[in-house]
Amino acid sequence: MKKDLLVMAIETSCDETAVAIVRNGREIVSNIVASQIESHKRFGGVVPEIASRHHVEQITIVLGEAINAAGISYGDLDAIVVTEGPGLVGALLIGVNAAKAIAFAHGIPLVSVHHIAGHIYANRLVKEMEFPLLALVVSGGHTELVYMKEHGHFEVIGETRDDAAGEAYDKVARVLNMPYPGGPHIDRLAHEGSDTLELPRAWLEEGSYDFSFSGLKSAVINTVHNAEQRGEVIAPENLAASFQASVVEVLVAKAVRAAKEYPVKQVLLAGGVAANKGLRAALTTAFAEMEEVELVIPPLNLCTDNAAMIAAAGSVLFEKGHRTGLDLNANPGLEISVYNDL
Ligand code: KG4
Ligand code: ZN
Repeated sequence: MKKDLLVMAIETSCDETAVAIVRNGREIVSNIVASQIESHKRFGGVVPEIASRHHVEQITIVLGEAINAAGISYGDLDAIVVTEGPGLVGALLIGVNAAKAIAFAHGIPLVSVHHIAGHIYANRLVKEMEFPLLALVVSGGHTELVYMKEHGHFEVIGETRDDAAGEAYDKVARVLNMPYPGGPHIDRLAHEGSDTLELPRAWLEEGSYDFSFSGLKSAVINTVHNAEQRGEVIAPENLAASFQASVVEVLVAKAVRAAKEYPVKQVLLAGGVAANKGLRAALTTAFAEMEEVELVIPPLNLCTDNAAMIAAAGSVLFEKGHRTGLDLNANPGLEISVYNDL
């Protein structure tokens, strides 16, 4: 019988200090997330220096909680996994150094992981992956369509040329005077309004799987300012509904087209914006008609940043032989294709 694989993962790329312990790449043993959102709210976004400081304060506590909740000790671990990048360099460094210290002190192998690989592997915590597959990644920093022919092999077939989807949500929310992060607020408001405003859809050139959201964001801001100048008020719920309709329509259409062009068995949704109710519903409807493709959507707590997803990705990379030296550094510009030759 094959021995169990028990890994601990640390994620500190942005504003969540997270530690998780996962068995055999799929079974969550403990999953602790300390969010800093309250501290960043009054600045309307994540302040990198504040994020780093919070990670320093939280990391030891969160590590202890994850170990206690799992009822294990460091000696039981087969590997320690950590997010290497992309993200805020000062934030990433806290996780990287904690992981290196644990690896060194306990003689455990160190495994570095790409943050977006983690978001994609959140799906494996709910459903075994079947290849080839396509992942629609929509987070605060990334909007990408990723084709995977096998475990650990990531080919980006389309990506945003400017703002990420989550970034556009957060910027539009600011215009509507909503707190950071704005995505969930716009999502809620969108369901109270209707798609009454004419906003653009950025389809880009024929056949392109790239995205662009900055034009849409500017259109929303201009619509609000023009109305203000005329002394009119646009119902915020209609603005939210119209903005969301534009984002969702483009994301769904490009994912469906890619799923028809590539020979995929599954389409996985990933990233913080995967929590969006409008997107989840529209994708579910669109893929209900494509019987040969299975749509997988992670539960809400695994869509936003967490360490269980990093552990899931790290477990697969570990089994493919990926090991990291104790000279590991944070790498804000890390490419997701780095594991393709494993
Ligand atoms: O993946 P994530 O936790 O962090 C990054 O890796 O960027 O994503 C955070 C993003 C934020 O922009 C947030 O506004 C967005 O996900 N988000 C949402 C929803 N929940 C979170 N966007 C739209 N609708 C939601 N329900
Ligand atoms: Zn993320």
